[in-house]
Amino acid sequence: MVPIVTIDGPSGSGKGTISKALAIDLNWNYLDSGLIYRCYAFLHSIGVTDITQEINHINHEYDLEHETISYRNKNITDDIRGPAITKLSSELSQLSGVRDKLTMIQKTYRKEPGLVAEGRDMSSKLFPDSLVKIFLTANLEERVMRRANQLRNAGQKVNISELKNEIVLRDDRDTKRTQSPLKQTEDSIFIDSSEKTVGEITNLIKKLINEKY
Ligand code: DC
Repeated sequence: MVPIVTIDGPSGSGKGTISKALAIDLNWNYLDSGLIYRCYAFLHSIGVTDITQEINHINHEYDLEHETISYRNKNITDDIRGPAITKLSSELSQLSGVRDKLTMIQKTYRKEPGLVAEGRDMSSKLFPDSLVKIFLTANLEERVMRRANQLRNAGQKVNISELKNEIVLRDDRDTKRTQSPLKQTEDSIFIDSSEKTVGEITNLIKKLINEKY
């Protein structure tokens, strides 16, 4: 069986940074499942009907500091990470028809030599047999500041109180929906990233992998 590390948590918990760092370090595959929901929302917003086919034309290039998301050679990084698609992806992810289609795509990321998968339902629904399950969070203030920095780095203006409201609303939608809500499974390890460095957290997760693998 291909080994998997699943990392679930709310927005701004640091799961993207940690998962990427871990996948690069281990040389494993990486699944940003939130990005799949964002791709779906983006294609929906421009009126594409056959979204599951068209999603194959979205390309994601990344390293630890940068990423470029393109659709048919057009750079859509700012759009897909911007507020409108952020909100729409959270709304559309409530629909079971959407989740069923996107779940099938996400499962195809399980390939040798291993997978680091991040999202909301990676441990509970997608990969319940994963080797190490992490529930990563951080306090709200810290999550708001991280998201603000991400947006500023992408050249966007930030209103902190609006951003905080958006995050609280989105967390609420993502944790209270009926279909695969964000929740910590009993076999997940809880990590609060508020006062920890990326290095400390990745080392801790690597230690957990080594104990099991
Ligand atoms: O991780 P993210 O912020 O890029 O995710 C965008 C939205 O996609 C999130 O608000 C809810 C949805 N999502 C989901 O329903 N299940 C996942 N495993 C990942 C994301």
